[in-house]
Amino acid sequence: MIIRPEGPADVAAIRDVTIAAFKDHPHSDQTEHLIIDRLRQAGALSISLVAEVDGDVVGYIAFSPVALSDGSESWFGLGPVSILPECQGQGIGGALIRQGLSMLRDQGAAGCVVMGEPDFYRKFGFRNDPQLALKDCAPQYFLVQPLSSHGGSGMVSYNAAFYAGVDE
Ligand SMILES: CC(C)(COP(=O)(O)OP(=O)(O)OC[C@H]1O[C@@H](n2cnc3c(N)ncnc32)[C@H](O)[C@@H]1OP(=O)(O)O)[C@@H](O)C(=O)NCCC(=O)NCCS
Repeated sequence: MIIRPEGPADVAAIRDVTIAAFKDHPHSDQTEHLIIDRLRQAGALSISLVAEVDGDVVGYIAFSPVALSDGSESWFGLGPVSILPECQGQGIGGALIRQGLSMLRDQGAAGCVVMGEPDFYRKFGFRNDPQLALKDCAPQYFLVQPLSSHGGSGMVSYNAAFYAGVDE
């Protein structure tokens, strides 16, 4: 398995992997592939990595900038992250998350947030943090990982790409 930044030839495969990964997800509205397209269009894919096995894209992860209401800069949101169903449970998702976080650290990011399954994201250093909140998200499903000594507090806003309509 290799992990590398997305290239122009990966766009269709990233869509396919994302659609397949979220197809039966209980908390998905199956629009994650559109979020990725909109982030790309907006130039907001700060980190966009594919996992490739035998020349095929089997996994994908995106990181995009988030805004904090206290004005803190260089914070990012993890997601979507998606692994083809037949390739899940083999360590690929974990490898993408670790690689992305390592790249954020190298870039001097202040921190990373994620909305999702707490037991899963805790494995990668994310924790609940009462200092940071996401509108309409129960606190236990919103997790934070500081990547520098610069703290942050307040409400977190993801890129508009996460909230656009679903009629595309
Ligand atoms: C969630 C997802 C990205 C994980 O990728 P993966 O390649 O299957 O995960 P890994 O094999 O790297 O697992 C890493 C660890 O997380 C655990 N894990 C995997 N899915 C988990 C889940 N839903 N809840 C809790 N732990 C989970 C694994 O058991 C493993 O633990 P270990 O390191 O102690 O053995 C993948 O299953 C997926 O694409 N799911 C559908 C889309 C999705 O849910 N995306 C995330 C939305 S928040």
